[in-house]
Amino acid sequence: MVSERGTRPTVLPQVLLAGVGQMLRQAPGPARILDLGGGTGGLAVRLAAEGHDITVVDPSPDALAALARRADEAGAGDRVRGVQGDAEGLGDVVDAGAVDLVLCHGVLEVVDDPQVALRQVHRVLTPAGRLSLLLTQRRGAVLARVGAGHLRQALRIATDPDGRWGAEDPLRRRFDFEQVLDLLRATGFEVTATEGVRVFADLIPRGRSDQGLDDEPATRELVAELEAWAARDDGFRHVAGHLHVHARVAGRAHP
Ligand SMILES: C[S@@+](CC[C@H](N)C(=O)[O-])C[C@H]1O[C@@H](n2cnc3c(N)ncnc32)[C@H](O)[C@@H]1O
Repeated sequence: MVSERGTRPTVLPQVLLAGVGQMLRQAPGPARILDLGGGTGGLAVRLAAEGHDITVVDPSPDALAALARRADEAGAGDRVRGVQGDAEGLGDVVDAGAVDLVLCHGVLEVVDDPQVALRQVHRVLTPAGRLSLLLTQRRGAVLARVGAGHLRQALRIATDPDGRWGAEDPLRRRFDFEQVLDLLRATGFEVTATEGVRVFADLIPRGRSDQGLDDEPATRELVAELEAWAARDDGFRHVAGHLHVHARVAGRAHP
């Protein structure tokens, strides 16, 4: 996960970890998890260490090599499988109906076509399968840019059809809350919950909070409490930097 303030990598947000944990508790026992575009496996290795079987599909050989090292260091190498592949060709590397939970975090922003990717995800899930989707939101990006004084970039993100600030933008698109719900409905998913992630984290002026530097433990703790409070608030989740969606395969009986 990358901060909208720049390219500084961020620690896994508590709200996201809690949300994924909640999804896993809905079907107790070890799950077969696919982390699509899982990169170097920050979340995958953590879940493998909890006893789940994880397949990470990612097009980057470098990321997969780092994933293997990380999994070995955590003593979870036997429960993590890295596979080179992409969302569009998921059917070539993962069997249909073989997965209990798909993690798709920070990936629909970079794929060729989010609808195609989600249809592939749908195909690999069991009938009771679930999807944890994390997306970068346009409104959150606009707020973060305004807060940082990058007004031109903010206006471009606000008005560009894909929510991009220009040709150099590493993301191919940012999403609006309503658009995400429509996209999931159109690809055979039912949304069961949504959470705003990084509602405030990208808005804190660097080094200027009343608790001292923004990366000090006391500040991080306060931000985490604020984030937990805002995650399910209807107003705040529309403007969060990221949106975490819990979804399940639609149209069948679920527990
Ligand atoms: C922003 S990173 C997210 C990594 C990880 N999921 C996380 O949340 O930290 C995007 C990842 O998507 C991968 N990726 C790029 N294009 C992809 C595609 N077409 N299908 C699947 N993954 C892709 C990249 O290699 C990268 O690891």
